[in-house]
This record gives sequence, C-alpha cells and structure tokens, in this order.
Amino acid sequence: VPGALLELDIDALAAGGDGVGRGPDGRVVFVPFTAPGDRVRVRLVEERARFARGELESLVEPGPGRVEPPCPVFGRCGGCAWQHLSVEAQLAARRDILRDALERVGRLGPLPDIDFVPSPAAYGYRGRARIRVEGGSVGFRRRRSHALCAVAGCPLLAPPLDAALARLVADPPAGSGEWELVMGVDGTVRQSALPPPAGAPAVELEVAAQRLRVSPGVFVQANALLLDRLVSEVVEAAGSGDAFLELHAGAGTFTLGLARRFAGGVAIESSRAAASDLRHNLGAAGADHVRVVRAEASLRRLRGVLRDLRPDAVVLDPPRAGVGREVAGALARLAARRIVHLACDPATLARDLAVFRAGGWLVTRVTGFDLFPQTPHVEALAVLEREPRA
Ligand SMILES: C[S@@+](CC[C@H](N)C(=O)[O-])C[C@H]1O[C@@H](n2cnc3c(N)ncnc32)[C@H](O)[C@@H]1O
Repeated sequence: VPGALLELDIDALAAGGDGVGRGPDGRVVFVPFTAPGDRVRVRLVEERARFARGELESLVEPGPGRVEPPCPVFGRCGGCAWQHLSVEAQLAARRDILRDALERVGRLGPLPDIDFVPSPAAYGYRGRARIRVEGGSVGFRRRRSHALCAVAGCPLLAPPLDAALARLVADPPAGSGEWELVMGVDGTVRQSALPPPAGAPAVELEVAAQRLRVSPGVFVQANALLLDRLVSEVVEAAGSGDAFLELHAGAGTFTLGLARRFAGGVAIESSRAAASDLRHNLGAAGADHVRVVRAEASLRRLRGVLRDLRPDAVVLDPPRAGVGREVAGALARLAARRIVHLACDPATLARDLAVFRAGGWLVTRVTGFDLFPQTPHVEALAVLEREPRA
C-alpha cells in the first residue's frame, strides 16, 4: 500500500541507478539513493504487480560502498544519482549493468571478460555542460522534474567550466533559456545560447593530438579526461585497410584517426552543423580521401553509399536509441572484417548486437568506459568479428 513503511536489504543497483531490494512478499522494490549492503527503512510510493518503488526514510545500517556526497544539491539535482557511492562500488555496479544487459536482455552470453577503463578523476571531468537560466536563477533540471535546481557550482565540471558556471551565477543572462558550455584547448570555454544564434563561434578541441573544430550544439564527448583514451581504443579497434564506413561521425572525433589508418572511407552524420564541422576538420587535416555524407543513416542511404564502398571496418556511435534492427541488419550482411560499436546505452547496444549475432558475427571484445562518474550511465565499446565458418 503506498505510504506503508518497510525495512529491507539492498542487494544491487538497477540500470537506472536505484538500489534494488526485496519486500517481505518477495517483490522487487526500487529505492533511489541506496547502496548495496544497506539495510534501509523505506516508504512505498508506487506499487505494481511485479515491483514497487520506495523512498529512503532512514538508513538502518550502511553498506560498505557508502560515502558522503560532496555536492550540496545531491538528491535534488537531476544530474547525479550516485554521489553516495564510492568509485569502486560505482564501477562494480556499471560492470554488472553492462553484463546483465548483454547477457540477459541481449541473450548474447557467454561473452568475453568485460574490461573497464576508469575515469582519471571521479569529479572535475566534464568538458561540456548544459546550463539552464530562469529569471535570474542558474542551474540544472531537478530530479524527475522540469523545474530548475539552482546551483552555485557543479563538482562534475572541469575547473574552467565550473568557473564559467560561477560567472553565470554571479551575473545571470536576462530571461530564460539554455546555455552550452564547452571546454576547448588550453582551458578556453565557449559559452553559447541554445539553440545557437547564427554566427555563434565554434570551439577548438585537441583530441588525440589532432585539432577539432566544434560548432555550438554539435555533440562533444562529455568526459574530457578520457577522451584521448576513448579515441585511441576505438580507432585501434577498427584496424586499418582500404576503406572504412563510419556512422554517427559527429564533428570527427574518431574520423580523423580513422582517416590516418585507411586509404579511403565514408563518414555519415545527420546533423548539418556537425557534418559541416566534419568536412572542415577533415580538410584541415588534409584527409580528402574521406567522403562525408550528411544524412540519416537509413537503409536507403546506406544502400546508396554501399554501392561503391566495400568497407574493411564499420564504426558506429549512435545516440541512446541505438542503430535499430533495419540498419544493423544491413550492416551485418557486409563482408567487412570488423564492426566497432560504441554505445551509451547498454540496453539498446544489446538489442543491436543481437542483430549482428544473428547475422553471423561474434562479439570478440567488450570494454566499458567510465565516461560518467557519479551517474549510472555506462559507455561501452563492442568489437565484432565474423564467426569462422564451420
Ligand atoms: C553519440 S554522438 C557521436 C558523435 C561522434 N562519434 C563523436 O564521438 O563526437 C551521435 C551522433 O550521431 C548523429 N546522429 C543521430 N542520429 C543519426 C542518424 N540516424 N544517422 C546519422 N547520424 C546520426 C548525431 O547528430 C551525433 O552527432
């Protein structure tokens, strides 16, 4: 009954970040801001046939992975769900979330061991942020709400971005809206309104020793400290050869590295601003052997591209929705040597990998990247190779 109080043990963390325990009737209960090993008193707020949701009333006995959250708005701000967990407890939980998605949801098991690349720092790592301004207040969205959570700073931001946020707080722009902060080379910060006004300046990033122009609103990987490592892992996994096909290329985070390893290639990107940055960045790197196609990676566009491209490697980095059955099915039919699939949502990655698996591909490597410390988000790189024919 909603409102009822229960006492239970938290056994694990769910993909959304909530702690998971079992009520006296054996039903699963999700409780935000709890940790594995906690004994907690919980007030039920929602009941369904197969699970319930509760809010933490009090901590009876803390689990071993608990730490004191450093941020004064932790619990109210929608940005972080895991500041109450040690770095080790967070990593263990992300590994379990990824393995569970691939083995249970995607039914891909047994899989190779999952390596995890930790973030060099658990705070001060973010190289981009979206800040909301509402009538003189500055902050992020509240948890499970569109309302503003006003902040004085954010411990996740790289120091130059946190300083820029503090300047916005001290002198907020008039009206209401969203602002994007991105950290460029030498700690420069580009601050732009969203959607970006015409002529808003780009920022220069240095990624794996290459310069990258990125216009306002164009995707930038969030963890500035892991970016070089991520790029080298993705590019090395792709190998080398005559041609690559890249989908979701953005401004060219991986494309510049791929261009150095392949004699030719096609990079597909749907955003006009990102595709324009990508063309600029390839041109500045002298990589005119790579063709940019500005299009949604649909089955029809892919067929067009593949009429005169025989890729040795395919590199994918889709948004949370994944690539989808149709496109994954078409890619699975290619005679490529490997598919390198980077994903920010383990559940949609599992679904896409199942399509490749059915098409005769084996997952030969899975690496997790700790791109988002203090949150349950998991970035995963899966490498697939053709199943040897019996
Ligand atoms: C996760 S970001 C990755 C960008 C780039 N790989 C990087 O690391 O900077 C996904 C990119 O895919 C693009 N995108 C989204 N849907 C797409 C689609 N259906 N076809 C092609 N590109 C798409 C987005 O504009 C975005 O640039």
